[in-house]
Amino acid sequence: MSEDIKKVLILGDGNMSFALALCKLLWKENGNLLNAAHTYFGINDKATKFQIIATTFDSKEQLMTKYHDAKEIVSKIEKFGKEKIQILHGINAWELSKEFGSFDDKNSIGEGKCESMPLGKQLFDIVLWYVIAV
Ligand SMILES: C[S@@+](CC[C@H](N)C(=O)[O-])C[C@H]1O[C@@H](n2cnc3c(N)ncnc32)[C@H](O)[C@@H]1O
Repeated sequence: MSEDIKKVLILGDGNMSFALALCKLLWKENGNLLNAAHTYFGINDKATKFQIIATTFDSKEQLMTKYHDAKEIVSKIEKFGKEKIQILHGINAWELSKEFGSFDDKNSIGEGKCESMPLGKQLFDIVLWYVIAV
């Protein structure tokens, strides 16, 4: 039987503290926290696994300049491993078709295949939109 893996996209995290908090909920050795994560996502099957793409609007350089704790947070996130969480910077949540391509766009050829469209054409099960609307 194939594993149930939910793909999670985080948009507009500031200093990446939200992504780190989610990693801790999902992957720290503590069953109670994992249950809290499943409840947060409304998922009943406790065997469900998660893969996250966490994004910031800021470039990596801007992020490191703006937030004194960003370097430490990013390095803690990276320790969870790329198969669990990937980080992308400079992603504009208001222009997602530029990042993903739209489904009728022949230039959108799939995940990670096109440098100018880093997210490629892929589907997510859960999208956490962390951007303030003004
Ligand atoms: C509520 S804050 C995120 C909270 C964050 N964890 C923090 O503590 O700083 C809103 C975030 O939206 C981001 N943002 C603003 N415009 C955006 C856009 N067009 N696309 C993606 N993110 C954007 C900003 O970078 C800001 O960090």
